[in-house]
Amino acid sequence: MNIVWATSEAAPYAKTGGLADVSYSLPYALAENGHNVSVFMPYYPQVMAEKCDDTEVVGELLGVPLGDGNEEWGQIRQHKINENLSFYFIEHHKYFDRPKLYDWDGQEYTDNAERFIFLSRAIMQAVLALDIKVDVLHANDWHTSLCSVYLKSSLYNGFDNFSKTKSVVTIHNIGYQGVFPKSNLFWTGLGWDYFNVHCLEFYDQVNFLKAGVMTADMVTTVSPTYAEEILSPEYSFNLEQPLQHRAVQGKLRGIINGIDIQEWNPETDKLIPHNFSHTDLTGKALCKMELQKEFGLEVRADVPLYGVVSRLATQKGLDVFIECIDSMLKEDDVQFVIIGSGEKWQENALADYAKAYPGKFGAFIGYSNKIAHMVEAGADFFVMPSRYEPCGLNQMYSMKYGTVPIVRSTGGLEDTVNNYSAANIDAATGFKFYDLYPAALRDTMRWAASVYRNDKPAFAKIIKNGMTTDFSWHHTAEEYEELYQHANTRF
Ligand code: ADP
Ligand code: GLC
Repeated sequence: MNIVWATSEAAPYAKTGGLADVSYSLPYALAENGHNVSVFMPYYPQVMAEKCDDTEVVGELLGVPLGDGNEEWGQIRQHKINENLSFYFIEHHKYFDRPKLYDWDGQEYTDNAERFIFLSRAIMQAVLALDIKVDVLHANDWHTSLCSVYLKSSLYNGFDNFSKTKSVVTIHNIGYQGVFPKSNLFWTGLGWDYFNVHCLEFYDQVNFLKAGVMTADMVTTVSPTYAEEILSPEYSFNLEQPLQHRAVQGKLRGIINGIDIQEWNPETDKLIPHNFSHTDLTGKALCKMELQKEFGLEVRADVPLYGVVSRLATQKGLDVFIECIDSMLKEDDVQFVIIGSGEKWQENALADYAKAYPGKFGAFIGYSNKIAHMVEAGADFFVMPSRYEPCGLNQMYSMKYGTVPIVRSTGGLEDTVNNYSAANIDAATGFKFYDLYPAALRDTMRWAASVYRNDKPAFAKIIKNGMTTDFSWHHTAEEYEELYQHANTRF
């Protein structure tokens, strides 16, 4: 199949979260299975820095009609990974030559509607310019959802390149939908016909994700449990009705993400100080010491060390973590390391803990792939108290590194972690709690520490179970292939 993958970010080029990881590793897995995959994303020169050198301009200047038909001119750059996989970058300095992808200093760029309408339309134009006969157009999150609308519109449905195209829209995070004042419809070139409940209209505004949900041949999200959860108002951010409508038609599915086992492999990882495997954990003990040194903690093998790597957003539930750890820091013999950035009050609260409890609590406020790998390798536990979690990749990374996840049972966390109990020891891979209260999280962290201290055989088994679980893209890629084949039919 000729698969076009549309995204606003992909690792290693530009990344703010798991969408970037998935946008590299799933296309890679599909290409390995013999499909031709073309990934389209913006060219962010300031963010991509040295990775820009690997790209080269292909084709002519790219004309992208915006608004009432005036063309914006861009360029297509290519980075060919292998015979079956190419990344294509849409270059347009006014829209994408910025210090960060979506915001600056906590404020969304005010022209985000225009920027991502441009991206979606530019992808359609680039497909024509490169003359790709598209079997599957796979858009991701709100930034590129409009591709699905364009595909069905009179602007593009007459082209040969799209005559057999099925569209898929994947929701990686329903908390971000691309909702803007309806005046932005102007930039789409679609006209007011599309401003209705079956497409872009949403409480008298435009909603790009909703339009994708309503028009795609198939809507997916990144875990089976999240696919259920988003049908209810508690999780849907007001999108439950469109989703229920598609679910009744058999057009909504949850497919769990895999992980890139080349990048996240403790046996070969070059970003960690010592490698290790499930048959020999000596290197893990050394990684713990290095992590303690890196964060200025007391260097001790016997103390339970909890790690966190996260965006500091409401979604991640770290407000509850911040609320519950004070008593643990006062009363328990434990250590914490956390790396994250996001909401300022959370950054400040974590930095304050690091000042108040040196030797016990370490915080790195910012973004560092190397330190993220070091935390995954060196901690004993990985904490994810998510309010909601479409899939979550970190809990899978941590299991691969023998770092036992402590998670709230929601979305992909529910689907990928098996809760420990003495009766379930053969399958257990972590610890779960259900209600997002400080006491529930604290009790679960303490419960985990008591197993760590008092039941070493059980703890060793939990580690081994996680390290030997297959989280590769293998099965997931096959599920997507099946989905692509049947996207027009009812499941
Ligand atoms: P989300 O996409 O919601 O943030 P995921 O668990 O799917 O959550 O993916 C998060 C990805 O971002 C992981 O690869 C994780 O290691 C990475 N990450 C998050 N915060 C940081 C950070 N501060 N520094 C480095 N990597 C980070
Ligand atoms: C989003 C979700 C996360 C998921 C990732 C990749 O960022 O918040 O749970 O793992 O997308 O699908």
